[in-house]
Amino acid sequence: MLPIRYTNADLDWTDDNSRVVREHNDESERDIELKETTVADWESYDTVYIGYPIWWGIATWPVNNFVKVNNFTHKTVIPFCISASSGLGESGKLLAEMAGTGNWQEGIRFRSIVGESDVKAWLDSLEK
Ligand SMILES: Cc1cc2nc3c(=O)[nH]c(=O)nc-3n(C[C@H](O)[C@H](O)[C@H](O)COP(=O)(O)O)c2cc1C
Repeated sequence: MLPIRYTNADLDWTDDNSRVVREHNDESERDIELKETTVADWESYDTVYIGYPIWWGIATWPVNNFVKVNNFTHKTVIPFCISASSGLGESGKLLAEMAGTGNWQEGIRFRSIVGESDVKAWLDSLEK
């Protein structure tokens, strides 16, 4: 079965019957099939950045199956998110628990309108 993409209507959080609202209300609906969960040369990476938008204060749940199926042992994992107003909150911690492996760091939250230079500045600050 192919993954089902989210349409704009699916993402309408103001509609009580939209896909995201149903998934938000019922955790058992959040087991989202992904097109791809493997990363080429995964073993060769020491650091993995996991980025996602925030939905209702947590990471978009389509990310869950990516962290669940990959092995982060011996890797540094850095979460980062974009949101309208919420902070990173517990989103990174929850993903770390789902992953069960990896040395997860405190990540960062960017505004939805983040620019490339903001991201570059953050990456540069991590390398120092
Ligand atoms: C279903 C849904 C739930 C959202 N929940 C939150 C939220 O709890 N807090 C927040 O700050 N932004 C929330 N947002 C806004 C998204 O984080 C925002 O859409 C995302 O950062 C992507 O930005 P863009 O829509 O400008 O591309 C939500 C968006 C959607 C679609």
